[in-house]
Amino acid sequence: MRMRKPVFLDGRRIFLRPIDMRDMERFFRWFNDPRLRRHLLLPFPTTRMAEKEFIERMTKLKDGVVLSIVVKRGGRLIGNVSLFKINGIHRSADLGIAIADLSMASKGFGTEAMGLVLDYAFGTLNLNRVELSVHDFNRRAEAAYRRLGFVEEGRRRQSYYCDGEYHDDILMAMLRDEWKNGRG
Ligand SMILES: CC(C)(COP(=O)(O)OP(=O)(O)OC[C@H]1O[C@@H](n2cnc3c(N)ncnc32)[C@H](O)[C@@H]1OP(=O)(O)O)[C@@H](O)C(=O)NCCC(=O)NCCS
Repeated sequence: MRMRKPVFLDGRRIFLRPIDMRDMERFFRWFNDPRLRRHLLLPFPTTRMAEKEFIERMTKLKDGVVLSIVVKRGGRLIGNVSLFKINGIHRSADLGIAIADLSMASKGFGTEAMGLVLDYAFGTLNLNRVELSVHDFNRRAEAAYRRLGFVEEGRRRQSYYCDGEYHDDILMAMLRDEWKNGRG
């Protein structure tokens, strides 16, 4: 599904704006931190050139939207959140998120950012299903997803090799009605 851009989403403590080259230096630093990378699908370090190309690619994405998360008070960039593989026939998409500034984790910003993106996905884009996967050791992410209303649908057993061990990936999804119900 071709996206209408740019997308700006306004929340209580944060806003989401399109990713751009201003973010490159910080993303380069954050996505080279193994503590962050192990939660994502980034086994190897990245270079400035690769990060620049990534941002260029993401800004041109036709079936997705990649948004930077900015804290309103102080204007601090803390990570990004995206909807990708947006499919207009099945009305589905994948969600990805990283509060990449680890000092800003566990303060509710991830939950707020995903709430804004889910409102956009179900409310504005009229999608019916949003899915994601999470490595089984990423308890914080799993807890945040469950609390938002994502439902576990299955596991890809030993699908992720990290630090000398295989881990399962937990597949989760939320349907449009579950988002509405979750919000009363
Ligand atoms: C996962 C992530 C998006 C969550 O966002 P966040 O802003 O840190 O999390 P929130 O503060 O909104 O919510 C986290 C929840 O997990 C809980 N939590 C925190 N650490 C936990 C742990 N070790 N085990 C279980 N639950 C934990 C918190 O208590 C909170 O739940 P509550 O609000 O019911 O108390 C963010 O931490 C992040 O991006 N981490 C690094 C990259 C990553 O893991 N991305 C996701 C890949 S699938």
